[in-house]
Amino acid sequence: MRIVTESAKLQQVVSKVPRPLVLVPTMGALHEGHLALVRRARRLARGTGTTAASIFVNPTQFGPSEDFGRYPRSFEQDSALLRQNGCDLVFGPDAPDMYYPDRSVEIVENSLSQVMCGASRPGHFSGVCTVVAKLFNLFHPDIAIFGAKDFQQFAIIRRMVRDLNFLVRLEAHPTVREPDGLAMSSRNIYLSAEEREQAPVIQQVLQRAEKKVREGRGSVAGVVDWMRAQIQLASLAKVDYVVAVDPVNLQTASQLRPPVLLAAAVLFGKTRLIDNRLVE
Ligand code: PAJ
Repeated sequence: MRIVTESAKLQQVVSKVPRPLVLVPTMGALHEGHLALVRRARRLARGTGTTAASIFVNPTQFGPSEDFGRYPRSFEQDSALLRQNGCDLVFGPDAPDMYYPDRSVEIVENSLSQVMCGASRPGHFSGVCTVVAKLFNLFHPDIAIFGAKDFQQFAIIRRMVRDLNFLVRLEAHPTVREPDGLAMSSRNIYLSAEEREQAPVIQQVLQRAEKKVREGRGSVAGVVDWMRAQIQLASLAKVDYVVAVDPVNLQTASQLRPPVLLAAAVLFGKTRLIDNRLVE
């Protein structure tokens, strides 16, 4: 496995590697969710191609009061895990390599990023779009894989690829969960024992709401209120948002019937967890 830390070097390396090149962008602190994406990339590269990953805690997608400074960083361990899971090429730049101090161009998505996490985290998705666009320009991946846990992120990247004509195929990988249903996340390590115990409530409530959608019981607003109240029953949970939206445009669903995306963001202490269920 080759490790590259400079973007100029990466461009040289990438021009010579066997295709297809399948890319998994990450911010490191890798867990089984990330590694499942890497193994999927390996299968898509079909033995002859190149499985690539990036590890970069992207400063531009963190708000001023968010956890950029304390986001877990474990490059050595991450590289070992990537190697064990069949990765061929890792890109781990530092921020000055990725961003000129006088940079003045960024990518702004103006529709899907207005809601859900975009409403709570102003500028977040511009940071995501800009860094993902840069990674696409650096790697020229044939395929890029993202997790369905970050459903809105995937929808926005798909829109960016469509609107700006990036030549890359996107794939969404199902959410990988802990045995009790909690979606795996690099941020789960911040949870206290008690918070960790309560955190699966998010998925449990989304699952029960899915049943309501399938049975066509009640209204969109009714189910959203019900989900908020149910999550709020966990004493340490503070709901940021709960939505039932159209999975394509992320606007509030017009009716309580599939296809609908049920999604929530919940604070446990300072830790913000997100999860969703796509009811198709
Ligand atoms: P990060 O949170 O490190 O996640 C990297 C990729 O792993 C994302 O596509 C995310 O959706 C996926 N992922 C995380 N947890 C997962 C889980 N439990 N199951 C399945 N997939 C999971 O998302 C980012 O980084 C950044 O925003 C990035 C796209 C790298 C841009 O900086």
